[in-house]
Amino acid sequence: MSIDYRFSVAPMMGYTTPYARYFYRLLSKKAVLFTEMVASQALVRGNQNILCQKNDLENPVILQVGGNDEKDMAKCSNIAEKYNYDGINLNIGCPSKKVLKGRFGACLMQEPIKVSQMVKSIKRESSLEISIKCRTGVDDKDNYDFLKNFIALTSEAGCKVFFVHARKAHLKGLSPKQNRTIPKLEYEKVYKLKNDFPHLKIILNGGINNLNNFNEHYSNLDGIMMGRAIQKNPFILLDVDKKIFKINETDKKNKIKIINNYFIFIQNYIGKISSYHLISPLLAMYFGAPNSKSLKQKINDYIITKNFEKLEKICIDSFS
Ligand SMILES: Cc1cc2nc3c(=O)[nH]c(=O)nc-3n(C[C@H](O)[C@H](O)[C@H](O)COP(=O)(O)O)c2cc1C
Repeated sequence: MSIDYRFSVAPMMGYTTPYARYFYRLLSKKAVLFTEMVASQALVRGNQNILCQKNDLENPVILQVGGNDEKDMAKCSNIAEKYNYDGINLNIGCPSKKVLKGRFGACLMQEPIKVSQMVKSIKRESSLEISIKCRTGVDDKDNYDFLKNFIALTSEAGCKVFFVHARKAHLKGLSPKQNRTIPKLEYEKVYKLKNDFPHLKIILNGGINNLNNFNEHYSNLDGIMMGRAIQKNPFILLDVDKKIFKINETDKKNKIKIINNYFIFIQNYIGKISSYHLISPLLAMYFGAPNSKSLKQKINDYIITKNFEKLEKICIDSFS
């Protein structure tokens, strides 16, 4: 079944864990979710049960992989199928030093033939939908024709879905965090891609902080992807099904019930998984609030002592 890409939550290392994805799914039935990036080498040679951990309730969910070896990629697509992911996404946008050293991520935008080979090899091996997440350019290769050529070659190889983080990546001199804020946003290039490749699915990512302008984006594109805004306030997802997917919820979702369900879910993991990881999908909302110093201290204490009853109470009290 093909995936409805109108709204996705961006892959975020350290955040889009199986626990966060479960929480996000409680808030939206339809948003497409992504894993954190997994290195293809680690996936092929490491502990797949840990790296691919997911709950079937999370679907639709896409496994994001980073790598540059076509044989490994083929194996990754088999693994993604085995663990019931809905799609596999190639990370061609990460500018971190570690990723650059491994010669994958954003630097591969300069090697569209290599990326095309990976696409072909995945397509030969599995029927999973394949997508690419890329930038608008890298370093001084930042004109529209560079981007257009990358999309043309990789789409000819069989990739029909592109998530474009609408900023170029600086491979030297900027940290990943700076690479998400300093390069200017170039939405017009992403719009132009859809114009030039109307048969492809083009999804816009970068700097979208709310659902206000979604109509404007949809008149030009196939979907939007939001990252940090959801990490800071996952409750934005409560509006996604109704506003974007036009699903009328008969049972009005209740924030307290959702928090309740999430704490029931994580009970099985207490003591096995770091308490911080389990509570992290909710943390940014409280840590970001003004005058939150004493609240933060309390939350930290409860995390250390694994007092999940008190943690749940704090979350629920904030809505009453
Ligand atoms: C903490 C953090 C981790 C990220 N990890 C990944 C990742 O694993 N894979 C990836 O493709 N992008 C990653 N990104 C980039 C996001 O997917 C997204 O492209 C970027 O944050 C811009 O979207 P936004 O402005 O909506 O946040 C990460 C971003 C953040 C903030």
